[in-house]
Amino acid sequence: MVPKAGAPNTNPMKDIPIDGDRLWNRLTEMSAIGAQEEGGITRRSFTAEERAAKDLVISYMEEAGLSVYEDAIGNLFGRREGLQPDAPVVLVGSHVDSVVNGGNFDGPLGVLSAVEVLQAMKDHEQVTRHPVEVVAFTDEEGARFGFGMLGSRALAGTLTVEDLQRTDEDGISIAQAMRNYGLEPQRLGEVSRPAGSIKAYAEVHIEQGSVLENKELPFGIASGLAGSVRLGFTLKGEARHAGTTPMNLRRDALAATAEAMGFIEASAAETGTTVGTVGQLELKPGGINIIPGQVDFTLDLRDMDQELRDDVEERIVSGIEEICERRGIGFAVELLQRNNPVPCSQLVREAASAACEELDVESFELPSGAGHDGMQLTGICPMGMILVRSKDGISHSSDEYSSKEDCAVAADVLYHTVLNLAGIAR
Ligand code: GLV
Ligand code: MN
Ligand code: MN
Repeated sequence: MVPKAGAPNTNPMKDIPIDGDRLWNRLTEMSAIGAQEEGGITRRSFTAEERAAKDLVISYMEEAGLSVYEDAIGNLFGRREGLQPDAPVVLVGSHVDSVVNGGNFDGPLGVLSAVEVLQAMKDHEQVTRHPVEVVAFTDEEGARFGFGMLGSRALAGTLTVEDLQRTDEDGISIAQAMRNYGLEPQRLGEVSRPAGSIKAYAEVHIEQGSVLENKELPFGIASGLAGSVRLGFTLKGEARHAGTTPMNLRRDALAATAEAMGFIEASAAETGTTVGTVGQLELKPGGINIIPGQVDFTLDLRDMDQELRDDVEERIVSGIEEICERRGIGFAVELLQRNNPVPCSQLVREAASAACEELDVESFELPSGAGHDGMQLTGICPMGMILVRSKDGISHSSDEYSSKEDCAVAADVLYHTVLNLAGIAR
């Protein structure tokens, strides 16, 4: 535990049963699954790597005495009963899939912290009134289908049969990938939970930014989550000979894309808070001596202020359309995903803040710039998050790192947050 600066830890609840070494060792064990030569980790959804990560979590869940089950989209649950088995469940967790060549903390820290909390409850015979479940959601990142949070969307009842037709870069649909993995997509409807069946959802996650590091704080409580709009653009020009086509007769799709990217960067930067990223770009035919005939690229646009973000989106789309018109380039845009920014619930924020008081540690609130499964659950339950200091604010990179001590403190806070939500039965 890290007490507040200058404050002796005199709270009688300071006896923290969380085992920071066990949590760290499990994180280390997880980091071997999907490890890449480049140093990062790749665990895309419905792959052998994601399966292996879930199987490892199952072994920890069994050690913690949890009853383990998976639903029709592959969400993995481990349940500890409460004194009132029919009471709404307190759900705690995160995801174990990763981006391509990502880090080992984004996702696994939340799942393994949640298992640690329930292991500690078992070891210390801590009984709660509400049941508590750990969840490892399927495909939070969207690294395979460009459309993420599949498990949490399904739980909230918002993932549709049409969504399952989206394809990966090899043309495999989500439905087919599920079948290949041993799941039955036609059972999608069984996954959703009714509003009121989940008392609250709480998640530990790395901050993925630098606010906590700058404040010299090991963790913070999320006030809200920024939402991302994801668009797919297709710019069509003419693939012609690079040597014989004069500059004034070209319709170069990549030159138009370059101008569009400059426009995106300037438009996002203008607000001071919006962030815009072109993260995928494919050019056709891609010959050294051929003028690019077509470019497909994506845009990920985020802000905590939905109105501002949507304004910027509108300006970007019409700006790129103008660029294309001027250059004689064909223009098409497709909406890939629209997640709106959401505030975290008072219920979870207060439970986490009370946990900080009980532990005599500073409670500090900050928004998360990243997307998380909790944002999909707001229609069915209150949700909130505990964010852990990230080294140099780096994430979605093999350099992603949070210290063992910071991870342990956040798990301590999660333990007490869960007790506050689930109700201690003495
Ligand atoms: C997921 O980590 C996202 O914010 O894109
Ligand atoms: Mn994540
Ligand atoms: Mn992520």
